[in-house]
Amino acid sequence: MKKLVVTTIAAILLSGTAYADTIKVGVIGPFSGPFALQGKNFKAGIDAYMALNGNSVGDDTVEIVYRDVPQADPAQSKALAQELVVKEGVQYLAGFYFTPDAMAVTPLLKQANVPMVVMNAATSAIVTKSPLVVRTSFTTWQTSTPLAKVAFDKGIKKMISVVSDYGPGIDAENAFKTGFEGLGGSVVETIRMPLATNDFSPIMQRIKDSGAEGVFAFLPSGPTTLGFVKAYNENGLKAAGTPLYGPGDFTQESDLPALGDMALGMQTGFHYSVAHDSPENKVFVEAARKAIGNPAELSFPAVGAYDGMYVIYKMIEATGGEQDAAKAVEAVKGLSWTSPRGPVSIDPESRHITQNIYLREVAKADDGTYYNKEIQTFENQKDPGLAAAK
Ligand code: PHB
Repeated sequence: MKKLVVTTIAAILLSGTAYADTIKVGVIGPFSGPFALQGKNFKAGIDAYMALNGNSVGDDTVEIVYRDVPQADPAQSKALAQELVVKEGVQYLAGFYFTPDAMAVTPLLKQANVPMVVMNAATSAIVTKSPLVVRTSFTTWQTSTPLAKVAFDKGIKKMISVVSDYGPGIDAENAFKTGFEGLGGSVVETIRMPLATNDFSPIMQRIKDSGAEGVFAFLPSGPTTLGFVKAYNENGLKAAGTPLYGPGDFTQESDLPALGDMALGMQTGFHYSVAHDSPENKVFVEAARKAIGNPAELSFPAVGAYDGMYVIYKMIEATGGEQDAAKAVEAVKGLSWTSPRGPVSIDPESRHITQNIYLREVAKADDGTYYNKEIQTFENQKDPGLAAAK
């Protein structure tokens, strides 16, 4: 009898099925430095998801291991991803605020047998760099394309484009130009600024000199966008009635208290507003605000992270906790659910998220706080940039 029990226990241990594992998810993002609030929002989204859905999938416990890349730094991102895979034994890589940090890691995925869930980085081409990439954020092609029609329908014929000179900026410029010129407008000048630019006065002068009736712009959200909107106001462009259109990175909720009236009335295109009116968003906002501590700090990277965790939990479920990156990714192709942002799905072909893009206008609530009011919905948008990325 004793022998039988021992043999049975040994068989269970060998088959591995009756054993609970810890599944580690490595999350890379800016957790210190000027973009720390963006990383804090990744963490708030992840914490909110785990607070609402538990920290286990089946028999397995999920553990998050964070690594800090304060500013876009592909070499550091790659080194940390390697360390996470080799030393920490993570089964999933996630996060990635800046495009270059995501791009640097895609070549590692196949050999490591690890899927990557991009929770922010927004250059279309990232998903084409490895079949193991899934993205739950947005692309600047998605968020910029509807703005071309919005500006054109306002009667504007001449626009100037100003973007940060790297992946998502170049995509945004191409998206806006393609849309606006397709409608019959013209983009009279395209300016690409180094990512590190923080004195925008010379740019504002070039905008004035261009003769454009309106500005389209993209910068990665953070001190960058805050500085740009301030300069646009301080250099008299807003007062002169030259509208500024851009993706919602410009008016992230965590910057609205500092921008105040400078942002009032500004129209942006984006996948998510903290003010989105739905039961799913109420649940999310409450949990994410609790996680972040200061309610005014909640911003869009949290929703990319929250939905990223939804996708990772589905992957763990589909693989029964075994490390099989191809099977995990296959399982979420075509997955659809109701996100706090609205209805979404993972496009099976691109592995990028299909979603509504909202036109929003910064408004002032009765209590004096500012918010992104959704005023128009462009439904069920796939990434229009993928054709361009191929
Ligand atoms: C990016 O680097 O892809 C990126 C960063 C911040 C944003 C949008 C895109 O707000």
